[in-house]
Amino acid sequence: MHFYSPYLPLLPIILTSLISASPTSRHAIRAATRSPTVTSIHNFTLDTWVENLAVRANGQILATLLTTPQVYQVDPNPSSANPATLVHTFPSTTGCLGITELSPDIFYVVTGNFSISAVGSTPGSYSVWELNMAGFAAGGTPIAAAKIADFPQSVFLNGMTALEPVGGNTLLIADSGAGAVWSLNVDTRAVSKIITDPLMAPTSGADPAVGINGVKVRDQTLYFSNTDQQLIGKVALNANGSARGPATIVVGNAPGADDFQLDVLGNLFIAGDNELRFHGTVEGTGGPPDVVTNSSLVAGSTAVEFGRLATDLVSVYVSTNGGQGQYFSREFTNPGEIVRVDVLAAGWPKLR
Ligand SMILES: *[C@@H]1O[C@H](CO)[C@@H](O)[C@H](O)[C@H]1NC(C)=O
Ligand SMILES: *[C@@H]1O[C@H](CO)[C@@H](O)[C@H](O)[C@H]1NC(C)=O
Ligand SMILES: *[C@@H]1O[C@H](CO)[C@@H](O)[C@H](O)[C@H]1NC(C)=O
Ligand SMILES: *[C@@H]1O[C@H](CO)[C@@H](O)[C@H](O)[C@H]1NC(C)=O
Repeated sequence: MHFYSPYLPLLPIILTSLISASPTSRHAIRAATRSPTVTSIHNFTLDTWVENLAVRANGQILATLLTTPQVYQVDPNPSSANPATLVHTFPSTTGCLGITELSPDIFYVVTGNFSISAVGSTPGSYSVWELNMAGFAAGGTPIAAAKIADFPQSVFLNGMTALEPVGGNTLLIADSGAGAVWSLNVDTRAVSKIITDPLMAPTSGADPAVGINGVKVRDQTLYFSNTDQQLIGKVALNANGSARGPATIVVGNAPGADDFQLDVLGNLFIAGDNELRFHGTVEGTGGPPDVVTNSSLVAGSTAVEFGRLATDLVSVYVSTNGGQGQYFSREFTNPGEIVRVDVLAAGWPKLR
């Protein structure tokens, strides 16, 4: 996460107040996140599974769809004249998964063949593509994408993050089926299965098997969710993204955990299981995560990302599939959507 320039003058004030907050006021911040305002930003059509999202420096939200191989730009202003603009439709694949930014307005997207209701994942069908968003505006025409790498040895690629906080060229990608993390250097296009760990593994027999799912790097540490094992784990990293040792559990009681994000204090906002949840790693309460909201607007929540404008810096955007059960019953009543939740916590700054 990094801040849009108009916000910069405010940055020291907010960061100082958040970081120096006493445990009591931190608790107040956490308590305030328990009944936040929840605003529907954009509804996709019924039967559209929004799988992940990223936020551009200009505040526009990039949403990846799993049910069609497309990325849309969603305007955070719910009354925009162009609420959602198609960015790209990927060829020869059925859907999109993780998305992350490596350098300003250069985003990478995981694509692959994953059927929610039928065959599950097609091993080896996954690729990572580059989208250069510079100059792309709401209401514009779709842009080209460049394929960076195929992953013929992958099982089920899912969440993706940048290895280095600033200026790096390496992506880390969760393989939910293999229980592993792949690295991809976008300059050399070198691909390596860089981490495997028992805490990343899917539960044997689960169908579809979904082990390690969301991934984020903070302070040379990889944080990850494991949906089957219902946990958030972490592992310290070497400079090349390999693990310095075995992973350990951060949250051991995270049913349905999908993707997540860390705030500036290192606390976790976790999507999944029809809720947005909060785990105060700073206070270390040890218990299950608190429910931030279980509004029907976040039914089928899949991922969470902080805003980057002065107006949404202490809000998160949540992507949803509208409720996972619909994809098995094939009776759709609630669309996949982008929702804003005013959590009163800020994302980690990555000044460039
Ligand atoms: C999206 O649909 C929900 C009902 O499913 C509705 O409450 C909400 O207002 C809609 N959002 C927008 C932006 O139209
Ligand atoms: C993935 O799906 C696309 C679209 O249906 C198809 O063209 C392609 O052959 C599939 N790839 C694999 C590896 O099965
Ligand atoms: C990554 O770095 C570690 C520690 O320096 C080293 O042991 C390992 O071989 C490296 N792995 C790769 C794939 O380069
Ligand atoms: C949210 O949680 C409350 C309290 O547990 C419960 O009464 C309500 O039914 C839940 N709402 C949804 C949409 O699940």
